[in-house]
Amino acid sequence: MKSAVRSIGNSDAVDWLLDRTVLPGFSSIGYRVRGLAGSSPDPDGTLAGRDVVVTGANSGIGAAATEQFAALGARVHMVVRDLERGADARARISEATGSDELHLHRCDLSSLDSVRALAAELADERADGIAALVHNAGVLTPERRKSVDGYELTLATHVLGPLLLTELLVPALAAGAPSKVIFVTSGGMYTEKLDADDLELERREFDGPAFYAHAKRIQVILAGRLDEQLRSRGISVHAMHPGWADTPGVVEALPRFHSTLGPILRTPAEGADTIVWLAAAEEAAENGGNLWMDRRIRPAHRVPWTHETPAERARLWAKLSAMAGLDEPAGRSGPG
Ligand SMILES: NC(=O)c1ccc[n+]([C@@H]2O[C@H](COP(=O)([O-])OP(=O)(O)OC[C@H]3O[C@@H](n4cnc5c(N)ncnc54)[C@H](OP(=O)(O)O)[C@@H]3O)[C@@H](O)[C@H]2O)c1
Repeated sequence: MKSAVRSIGNSDAVDWLLDRTVLPGFSSIGYRVRGLAGSSPDPDGTLAGRDVVVTGANSGIGAAATEQFAALGARVHMVVRDLERGADARARISEATGSDELHLHRCDLSSLDSVRALAAELADERADGIAALVHNAGVLTPERRKSVDGYELTLATHVLGPLLLTELLVPALAAGAPSKVIFVTSGGMYTEKLDADDLELERREFDGPAFYAHAKRIQVILAGRLDEQLRSRGISVHAMHPGWADTPGVVEALPRFHSTLGPILRTPAEGADTIVWLAAAEEAAENGGNLWMDRRIRPAHRVPWTHETPAERARLWAKLSAMAGLDEPAGRSGPG
């Protein structure tokens, strides 16, 4: 397959400059200057007829990714926590794309039991294996909250549920190889270092954006770790960040940010573009474990003090495995 990146009509220097100057790079200016508007994320039709799973599929970036996948002919499993909101989104997307391959699944990603039930449902329904699993569902809470399992809610939603779901879907992802797991992280994680001794940040005073950024930092580290484990099964694992997109989540959680940057925020479709491109591109299959934005690999760190050590990564993995209830290392367990 030809690389879609090579078809983008801007120089490396402009791309580099956009990436370093956060405001233009993360906004819709970056998306347009990089020449992505109008460029198909799947020019070779790789995703037509394939099964893809999108969490948080009823709103914002998840709904936009679902619409793009549906327009490309994929069979989309829309994971939502509220079936009524999910049915509204499905009707909207079906009308826009003409797709009747939109399948709703209810799951609260912050609940490990709910994740187990979803994995069993998906394992039953998949036809030829799963081509892409998109961990998009996200939340930024106004105060410290706990999941039904008693874990800090931001960590449970962004990390523990997705980790368990990935683990349980390994056989289905391996059957769909080459397949992709994609974590939708955030540029906010550039400000946070992993605290391997306090994953739930219990020793810190609550700060919604910082807790969110810490969970997003863990997603980036996890993508690298899972990619190492799953590569031999034909599964590549990626983190991507969408830039700043105008979504219901941003309006609700960051109203001042939204009103200040409103005119230059990306559309949800622009934010979703790299998710769909990663799911389709052969270049992505060969470069797992990385952080992407606008179809290119980006640095995982921008300042030296956010780098974690190998020992911290090992402690993180041991703790997450126990918290998410993984019986065995990912890639060797899960329902058949
Ligand atoms: N928009 C941006 O600029 C931006 C920037 C960086 C990263 N992101 C990331 O992009 C992803 C999508 O965000 P968005 O901006 O599109 O926000 P959004 O419009 O609020 O969408 C979030 C989605 O996640 C779902 N969700 C939340 N908690 C869930 C749970 N426990 N179980 C199942 N689903 C759950 C929501 O369901 P309900 O509708 O039922 O609440 C909704 O469908 C998030 O991971 C976010 O962190 C966004």
